[in-house]
Order: sequence, then structure tokens, then C-alpha cells
Amino acid sequence: MYSQKVMENFANPKNVGVIEDADGIGTVGNPTCGDIMKMYLKIENDVITDAKFQTFGCAAAIASSSMATQMIKGKTIDEALTITNRQVIEALEGLPPKKIHCSVLAEEAIKLAIEDYRSKKKT
Ligand code: FES
Repeated sequence: MYSQKVMENFANPKNVGVIEDADGIGTVGNPTCGDIMKMYLKIENDVITDAKFQTFGCAAAIASSSMATQMIKGKTIDEALTITNRQVIEALEGLPPKKIHCSVLAEEAIKLAIEDYRSKKKT
């Protein structure tokens, strides 16, 4: 059912954890399955220097978080905002149709964490 890449990122996820002094935090959930993803970003001069996540969810959600955090590290926030769940799925070498929504959580969590960073910067 899952690709090798999904299995690797589920069995050995990268960037699991919390950033205590995160510059931006995004929390999203899917009301249908009840899964929750929380993304923490460390941002310096609009560049994402670190990203970590906590995901209380299925294998596809954990693999998507792991892949998405690897994809955004070192990127500017504008670049990170262009990352779509489709790109996360491609990097994972595919997800089953029923698991597409799991990758959407990763895209949304990144966007919310960046929004959070931007709103804090203004104040
Ligand atoms: Fe809902 Fe995977 S089943 S995030």
C-alpha cells in the first residue's frame, strides 16, 4: 500500500520534536480522521533554519511531516509557501488516494507556522 519512501519516513521520521523557542508554530487537524499535526519553525532573516513536528496521526501523516520538514529547511519563507501537498506526495513517491488528505495537513501546517511568524514579527 505504501511506497518505500513513505515506509522509511514513517519508521524513521526526521525532525520529530519540539522547538522550544520557535519563531512560528502551526497546528492543523483533520476533523474527519481526528489526526493532528503541529509544526515548529526557527526562522532567521526569513530563512527557515530549523523545522520540527509532532504528529498525532496515521503513517502517511507522519511520513508527510517528516518529508515536508526536510523540504523546507534552508528555504526562504516565500519558497516554503510555494510547497504544495502534491510536491510532498511526489517526494514520498506517491500516497494511496485515501491518504492524500494526510499530506494536505503538512502543507497547511507550514503555511500556518509562517503566518504565525509573520504576525509575531509585526507586533
Ligand atoms: Fe487523517 Fe492520515 S488518516 S491524517
